[in-house]
Amino acid sequence: MPETKATKNQSIKMENKYKNSDAYRAVIHDLIPGGAHTYSKGDDQFPQLAPAAISHGKGAYVWDIDGNKFLDCSMGLTSVSLGHAYEPVLEKVKEELYKGVNFQRPSYIEKEMAEAFLALIPCHDMIKFAKNGSSVTTAAVKLARAYTGRDLVAFPGDHPFYSVDDWFIGKTACDRGVPEKTKELSLTFKSYDIESLKALFEKYPNQIACIITEPEKEDDQPQGKYLKEAIELAHKNGALFIIDEMISGFKSALPGSTTKYKVEPDMCTWGKGIANGFSFCALTGKKAVMELGGIRKTGEEKVFLASTTHGGETHALAAGLATIAEFKKHNVIAHNHKLGDLLMSGLKKAIAEKGLEKNIHIGGTNWFSYALFKDEKGSVSLVFRTLVQQEMIRRGVLYQGAFVPCFSHSEEDIKYFINAFAESCEVYQQALQNGVDKYLIGPETKPVFRKHL
Ligand SMILES: Cc1ncc(COP(=O)(O)O)c(C=O)c1O
Repeated sequence: MPETKATKNQSIKMENKYKNSDAYRAVIHDLIPGGAHTYSKGDDQFPQLAPAAISHGKGAYVWDIDGNKFLDCSMGLTSVSLGHAYEPVLEKVKEELYKGVNFQRPSYIEKEMAEAFLALIPCHDMIKFAKNGSSVTTAAVKLARAYTGRDLVAFPGDHPFYSVDDWFIGKTACDRGVPEKTKELSLTFKSYDIESLKALFEKYPNQIACIITEPEKEDDQPQGKYLKEAIELAHKNGALFIIDEMISGFKSALPGSTTKYKVEPDMCTWGKGIANGFSFCALTGKKAVMELGGIRKTGEEKVFLASTTHGGETHALAAGLATIAEFKKHNVIAHNHKLGDLLMSGLKKAIAEKGLEKNIHIGGTNWFSYALFKDEKGSVSLVFRTLVQQEMIRRGVLYQGAFVPCFSHSEEDIKYFINAFAESCEVYQQALQNGVDKYLIGPETKPVFRKHL
């Protein structure tokens, strides 16, 4: 990590080297459309002075292909809940790897995982595995349509992401390639607003198959009360309710907001974080619904639920089992929440000390906090966001506007982050006074969901 005046007794040395990164950037877009396998990892999401690719990670740190070391903040898009290359998980993965990873029939470990995961979520009876979150959110939507015999699906239009599949992407600015007829089957409402949901059911009586929503995103929302009312409302209208725990799972609680708020959705979807970055995702649900994907009811019409070559890959399931064990053994949730609280209060203090309350807003929760950056006129600004990314990266923090604590982060890391942020705020102040162009090198980042490139 480069040294800054924020690190004790050490000289300021803030510039990283990007020779290999620049060479990588120069060719990668000819090889891989978008240059990455998640749009949010792409070059248009980072400032020019940023690593192009990571060589390896350990704990809460990553090293880029030039050897620069960074404190990690989003931990593999929030999937690495314990830490990079976390030994107790690696040990279990290695054991499984040497036994073979994929067979003609299910592996014994599928039963072990099914029992272990379902024990975490008592309101659900059955589970189906997959490798990606989108596969399970789409499977949940399909089951709801099959169960209810209805076509329409609804989700909060102000939430960022539920699936790469057409039922969701068709409602975003990036709807090219999605048939108009498919788009018409998806409806949106305002998140955590029961009146908005009521209006939707009134407008489309007996037509909505399901509501799918993330359970909570901000501290100051009435999540528990809302979720209870929304589930009741959906059921009263003959629709199923799906809670997408992709981000909240293993972060808001163990296993997630569903148990934290003691609500009983028909299905839940799980992914990021449940196997410490390994590719293991899951759909859980009530028997009456999930059994539709089964093969026991001879004579009934078959529902082709999730069916994947790699869904039962043994080492990913072993990673999941080891992750559950570590979360229980160490009370990882309490550790992460404590650090998250420390971070949020530290950032708010730093912002107040620099008089930037009108320009930087810290929101979210102690398990996923984010910062919103505004220009001198008070408008949300990608230019200022990019400037802060640039300044944080200069100081050895690979920052994209959000911080998700993991078990490998320490209080020292949080203090380092806050100091780096406070220093970045000084640059912010100067940029507000003298013009941001004088400080930002290269173009600003762009929204992932945009109509035009
Ligand atoms: C809330 C939510 N649901 C579903 C997904 C899809 O997960 P995946 O990228 O594994 O397909 C994401 C991914 O960012 C997500 O944030």
